Amino acid sequence: MQSKFSCPRGTTDITPFDISRWDNIERISKQILTCYNYKEIRTPLFEETELFARSMGQSSDVVCKQMLNLAAQQKDDQDGVTLSGLSLRPENTASVVRSYIQNGFDRKEPISKLFYIGPMFRGERPQKGRLRQFNQIGVEVLGPNTAQPYLDAEIISLSVHLLKSLGLEKFQLKINTLGTPEDKENFSQMLRQALKPYRKELSEYSQQRFERNVFRVLDSKDAADQEIVKKVHIGLSYLSTESQHYYAQVKEALMNLDVDFVEDQHLVRGLDYYTHTVFEICGSSLGSQDALGAGGRYNNLVRQLGGGDIDAMGFALGVERILLALGDKKVPLSNPLAAYIVPMSEEALNQGFVLMNVLRQENISCDLSYKYSAKLKNVLSNANKMDVHTVILLGEEEMKKHCVTLKDMQQKKEETISIKGNDFSKIINILKERYN
Ligand code: HAM
Repeated sequence: MQSKFSCPRGTTDITPFDISRWDNIERISKQILTCYNYKEIRTPLFEETELFARSMGQSSDVVCKQMLNLAAQQKDDQDGVTLSGLSLRPENTASVVRSYIQNGFDRKEPISKLFYIGPMFRGERPQKGRLRQFNQIGVEVLGPNTAQPYLDAEIISLSVHLLKSLGLEKFQLKINTLGTPEDKENFSQMLRQALKPYRKELSEYSQQRFERNVFRVLDSKDAADQEIVKKVHIGLSYLSTESQHYYAQVKEALMNLDVDFVEDQHLVRGLDYYTHTVFEICGSSLGSQDALGAGGRYNNLVRQLGGGDIDAMGFALGVERILLALGDKKVPLSNPLAAYIVPMSEEALNQGFVLMNVLRQENISCDLSYKYSAKLKNVLSNANKMDVHTVILLGEEEMKKHCVTLKDMQQKKEETISIKGNDFSKIINILKERYN
């Protein structure tokens, strides 16, 4: 079969063949997040474009180049004013902050520990590990006076705990600090000074970045830019004494939790809202798109978006990248079908149909081969392709003797069970004992 349509570039189908891996990732993550006392939040898949521009920054790559707008900007006929549009969410931090302010979370609880799992959208050039629709597992913690080094360490170690529990072993955690907005401004000025002598050698795009937002030069993927960046050493002199102390406490708390990390002074993250602690986790087998997840503190964003003085920090992990990094590593199947009923005559099909209904009423997962065949080889070939524990065979012999044959597909054992009319209680008990 050849479809006339394919899914749009940079998107993928998650088919029933892959779904158990996704189910498992979500189930394990939710278990851990609940254990850390995080509550789920679901926000719309689209928001006002302006929300993202204000939070991530006009000069960030995401806002400059990757927004997927729902409608082209329209001109109002009367006065020529440009109407603001809506965009698919490229990330969820801004939306969570918007919801936090709009729903007055701060009046309801002293600290909001939130998580989300869902799709994000960025108009990037697709490549391995880089999609236009991808999924994130993210957390955001917000509340007044919650900028505490222990909380930073908890959030970072939670991201590591999640990745380890999902089966990942080889990754590296990098951390850095940007300090307060004043420290960040210092950092920016020092960076400009340090890069100035090399300005003409930078790629054209990084020369623009130098003008618009010098931090973006540190994110450049251009090899020549990266060589220049390596020559620049700023240290932590841009930080106030207080910020240095805060950073030292975060590192100490991480060490107490036995979380391995390296410090990377060039880690500034591509989004404008960060202050203080930032971090990124890179997988060793992923090539150029190697970030499995990233996050950081953003103490000023709530105020910037119209809320009060609320500290906040979070991270997001990329689910597709986690799956890529896991490769063939088996994620256990979540739910094979308990029973598959295989009738071999029209009369058996009638009885099988009733049996299926009875089993489903008992919450035993099952299905039926709706087309019967008298040839055992034919009927079993379909059953073999399915992910099923037990095949219930209703053949000619079985119909004559008022019984069914239960074939355990994993243990390769079979047994015959007698039935009386439509009383299937023996089958129900056996299946419940095995699979419930
Ligand atoms: P981000 O670094 O833009 O941060 O994205 C986080 C993770 O999402 C990345 O490390 C990567 O695993 C995955 N990801 C991003 N873009 C793509 C893509 N095009 N294709 C596949 N995977 C992708 C944020 O989104 C922040 N909101 C994180 C955060 C939460 N900071 C504070 N709170």
